[in-house]
Amino acid sequence: MSNWVDVCASNEIDEEDVIRFDHEGRTFAVYRSPDDSYHATDGLCTHEKVHLADGLVMDDIIECPKHNGRFNYKTGEAKGAPVCVNLGTYPVKVDGGRVLIQVG
Ligand code: FES
Repeated sequence: MSNWVDVCASNEIDEEDVIRFDHEGRTFAVYRSPDDSYHATDGLCTHEKVHLADGLVMDDIIECPKHNGRFNYKTGEAKGAPVCVNLGTYPVKVDGGRVLIQVG
C-alpha cells in the first residue's frame, strides 16, 4: 500500500544536509544532496544505533557521528568498517514544496 508521509517543507533541509524524522515509532533520516535531490534512509546507524541525522553529509555519503562509519544515502550501501550492514532506503518526492517519504 502506498503510504506517503509529509516530512517538512523542502526549504527546511539545507543542501548537503540531513534531518531526523520520527513517524509512528520509527526514525528516518531525510537528506538533501548537493545536486538538490532528496533521499531517505533508516535513521539509525546499523552499527550501534546512533542517529545519522547528527552525522555529516558529504556528496553522496552520510558519515556516522560515533565511529565515522559511512553509507551511501542514495543506495543505503555500507561503505566500509565499522559498518557492514546496509541502511534501508525509502522513496521520496517533493510535491507542492513539501517533502514526502513513502514509509511502506
Ligand atoms: S555507531 Fe555508527 S559507525 Fe558505529
